[in-house]
Amino acid sequence: MATAHIRAEKGDFAETVLLPGDPLRAKYIADNFLSDVVQVNDVRGMLAFTGSYNGKRVSVMGSGMGMPSIGIYAHELITQFGVINLIRIGSCGSYQADVHVRDIIIGQATSTNSNWQSQYQLPGTFAPVADWGLMRAAVEQADGLGVRYHVGNILSSDIFYNAQPDAWKKWADMGVLGVEMEAAALYMTATHLGAKALCILTVSDSLVTFEETTAEEREKTFTDMMKIALEIA
Ligand code: HPA
Repeated sequence: MATAHIRAEKGDFAETVLLPGDPLRAKYIADNFLSDVVQVNDVRGMLAFTGSYNGKRVSVMGSGMGMPSIGIYAHELITQFGVINLIRIGSCGSYQADVHVRDIIIGQATSTNSNWQSQYQLPGTFAPVADWGLMRAAVEQADGLGVRYHVGNILSSDIFYNAQPDAWKKWADMGVLGVEMEAAALYMTATHLGAKALCILTVSDSLVTFEETTAEEREKTFTDMMKIALEIA
């Protein structure tokens, strides 16, 4: 069986899929954290792997950048491949002075400048939230690891290079912790289709202080984020 974007058989994916943006990140995770790995997709280079972590079956697949991309993969994983838990692991920019590079953000809710939710034709505004069970488990893991983390609202933006360079400050004033480009579509798709989603981020840059991370530092925080995601998978 194949979908428009995933050439795999039903059963090739585990019930839990980790979704980094970059397909080579997916390969790196499979190579370094999973055992008994099988590659299950390569359409458009969007590599997906299924393997085992501490005896649990887990898949990892690139989501691509942006809500249209993650929305396609999330929809097909849930409706065609029986995936139940979708955990995005990514990076974000910080909007708050006390959210530092290398901190972890657990996305409790998502705000967005995208039109994604118009398809649901709701008579108001929907608030996309993380699955509570996944989020609670992630917070417990973060406590156990002793890492610096924040739980709160994140912005899923359609725009990386914004023509209004100060637009982010309005979101910051509303307490939004940071910006990425996928979680709102993931949360809405999962909710609409009866699946569960969570987004865990490491802060790679700051719009407040302009601090950045070195490649080595990113690697260390990335490993912490990976541990959290794999333990709750
Ligand atoms: N904007 C959007 N997505 C991001 C950023 C950012 O500044 N940093 C990491 N992902």
